Amino acid sequence: MSEESVLKNRFARRTNWSFDINRVTETVNQLRLQGNTILDLTCSNPTQCGFSYPKNMLSPLSALENLSYAPDPQGLPRARQAVSDYYRRRGFDVAPERIFLTASSSEAYSALFRLLTDPGDHVLFPRPSYPLFQFLGALNDIVLDTYPIYYDTQWRIDFKALSAWVTARTKAIVLVNPNNPTGSFVGHESLMQIKALCLEKGLAIISDEVFWDFAFDETAVHESLVSHQRGLTFVLGGLSKALGLPQMKLSWMVLSGDEPLVAQAAARLEMISDTYLSVNTPVQNALESWLNCDVPMRNMILNRVRANYNFLKEAVAHVEEVTVLHVEGGWYAMLRLPDGLSEEEAVLSVLREAQVLVHPGYFFDCAEAPYWVVSLLPPEALFKTGVERILKHPCW
Ligand SMILES: Cc1ncc(COP(=O)(O)O)c(C=O)c1O
Repeated sequence: MSEESVLKNRFARRTNWSFDINRVTETVNQLRLQGNTILDLTCSNPTQCGFSYPKNMLSPLSALENLSYAPDPQGLPRARQAVSDYYRRRGFDVAPERIFLTASSSEAYSALFRLLTDPGDHVLFPRPSYPLFQFLGALNDIVLDTYPIYYDTQWRIDFKALSAWVTARTKAIVLVNPNNPTGSFVGHESLMQIKALCLEKGLAIISDEVFWDFAFDETAVHESLVSHQRGLTFVLGGLSKALGLPQMKLSWMVLSGDEPLVAQAAARLEMISDTYLSVNTPVQNALESWLNCDVPMRNMILNRVRANYNFLKEAVAHVEEVTVLHVEGGWYAMLRLPDGLSEEEAVLSVLREAQVLVHPGYFFDCAEAPYWVVSLLPPEALFKTGVERILKHPCW
């Protein structure tokens, strides 16, 4: 047996990932070693994007009450009340009893997969979407089926394709609303169709609304599933996006639907949460005061992403070969490149020629090539220079 297969046999198959460095990362490393400064238009960590967070934000962490530990598997009542108030300010009535706190949305996904699926069961995800789903699926022994979202003048869910994927082993449909990286909200008609399908087939809906607060057009009406009263629905939200505080590790799930189902789900989730008790006490104690700053913190981020999106659209408007796709919300924008161009070669070319890093579309499992995805979070001056440099060194 080769050394490689001996090693593989020592570990679970679900961890047989490839650890090879991809060509893009390799090129970034080389260029940096040669002393080049790369303008990173993929940065999606808000704490690295030059925002000024309120100075007194950290004061609640030094409160003496943080020395006492009296955990509640669902999350401390005061912290759940703060999440309930957050929803009330957005016009939704969410009882604290229907809220579960987790350390992250990724952890919430894992808890929900443990709750809803047995090994080999299927869950439907949108495509394109955020890359961590592949790992979350594999780690929880589920099969990921993907339903397409396609672009005409805006992104739409292909409902026919979605429903064709549903089998007796499908347990849940994940909606990402608005989606990462397409920035598209799930429209009313799609929501009606998906709700009806889930009711008919007995499927849960997991609605990932972590980017909910970042709608570019504040007059547009978008539908949240937090108050969907039929079937079984879980809505995800959290500090990493709502306040741009990924390091604080606090997210939430909101349960809604038919009462007996919700009660069963809550009892089972409580046991799952009790097994880990992963949300730390100081952050839960601070939650109320942090969520009370949601307006300025959200505006700080929203103004940035909107300004960068507008700049990108204007800058690319005169470039015939490239189209900036319409974004309704979130932190990303997608560029459609000319047919036939290799996404990866185009990324490598712009890295070498312009020292700018962008994501290839395949990173987000984009079905048709070629796309690039850029983060709209970087500081405006850096973003502008990055875009200008790309346009000065066209690879199309
Ligand atoms: C759509 C979506 N959901 C969930 C997450 C994970 O969020 P968290 O940091 O709360 O785990 C991300 C992270 O980028 C995301 O893009």
